[in-house]
Amino acid sequence: MILDVLDAFRAISASERGNTRLAYTEWEDRARDVVRDYLRALPGYVMVDDAAGNLFVVPEEATGVDGRPIVLIGSHVDTVIEGGWLDGTLGVAAGIASLSTLGADPETPLPLGLVVFRDEEGVRFNSGLFGSHVFAGLCQPTDLAKQDRDGCALGDVVPNPAGCLDYTPPVTPLAYLECHIEQGLRLEDAGARVGLVTGMVGIRRYDLTGVGQANHAGTTEMRRRVDALTPVAEVIGKLPVLVEDLEDTVITCGRIGVRPGAPNIVPGTAQAVVEIRSGNSETIEIVSGRLQDLVAGATPAISGGRCAELSLTGIVDVPPTRMDGDVLRDLASVVEGLGLPHLQMPSMAGHDAQHAAFRCPAGMFFIPSLEGISHAPDENSRPEDIEMAAQVMTAWAQAVLARLA
Ligand code: HGY
Ligand code: MN
Ligand code: MN
Repeated sequence: MILDVLDAFRAISASERGNTRLAYTEWEDRARDVVRDYLRALPGYVMVDDAAGNLFVVPEEATGVDGRPIVLIGSHVDTVIEGGWLDGTLGVAAGIASLSTLGADPETPLPLGLVVFRDEEGVRFNSGLFGSHVFAGLCQPTDLAKQDRDGCALGDVVPNPAGCLDYTPPVTPLAYLECHIEQGLRLEDAGARVGLVTGMVGIRRYDLTGVGQANHAGTTEMRRRVDALTPVAEVIGKLPVLVEDLEDTVITCGRIGVRPGAPNIVPGTAQAVVEIRSGNSETIEIVSGRLQDLVAGATPAISGGRCAELSLTGIVDVPPTRMDGDVLRDLASVVEGLGLPHLQMPSMAGHDAQHAAFRCPAGMFFIPSLEGISHAPDENSRPEDIEMAAQVMTAWAQAVLARLA
């Protein structure tokens, strides 16, 4: 079943350039419809969208502030630009398989549900883990003011902006479980099939903006121009140095834009997104300070020239998060019981589980990624590992339900 569900997701948006299902677009909506189609007939279940448009498929008795507390399986169906076919969808498909197995008996409706979080990738609005950020009760007006490249604000596309800011979850979660592709090579290198996730890195993103003066690229002498791009490019070129002495810490500039953006115009403004990741909050603070110093020290590209005005604004700040010890122990006993080679590991990727952890005990496991590739069209995993994900998720949900419900 899980491979059929994944093929249904892939059929929506796959091309030779990967999958692009950006948040709050028809592509994410069509992937959400796949979830509805598979679970519509589940006896005693209802489908509820919360204020952010996160989709909850839960037993009717679980809805509302006095609803029966339930175990939630979750992940996301939005993608990056030209992404793979498994990032996020694996966890949702495993949830569909588990609910179809465990929730199908109307006589013994288990307190088990599925949540499909919106806008996990954060590509369109420079947000990131947004749907689960709202679920965690962390949404701020500044989040809703973020705009996409067309000037559309996030607050204009969420179903209920006020409800995001003054949020009440539609269900009471006992625990949150997620499975995901590893998106790296640790499992492959170790010959393990399951990664028991101990925690996730913190992610901090900054908007780095340079404001100069658009001018003629031919008639404006070098000393007279105020080129917005050169100091921004100087900062970007030096980013790796800021973390080279630090363990398990990365820094990336994955997006840059110039306006007006023509070869014969000196850039008037330049904008880049810089992202820091580390499992250690203090380390994130250290690198943030180094970045601020680098930006403050930007100098004119040529002696006697003028330097554009640089500014750095924080736009995402997700703290490093540990997964729940009891939920992790349930997972370890399930995986050992199935005789699956496994290892405990941190995640250098951010995941909705780290926001779900604000609401309830959360846990996560990984399956291997072939060649460690992700956020790219060649993202792939072995079919037997994908099938295994559904088996482990179903057994794990039962173990957690047996202990908590
Ligand atoms: O960026 C991440 O770590 C995740 O893929 N959203
Ligand atoms: Mn993901
Ligand atoms: Mn991703």
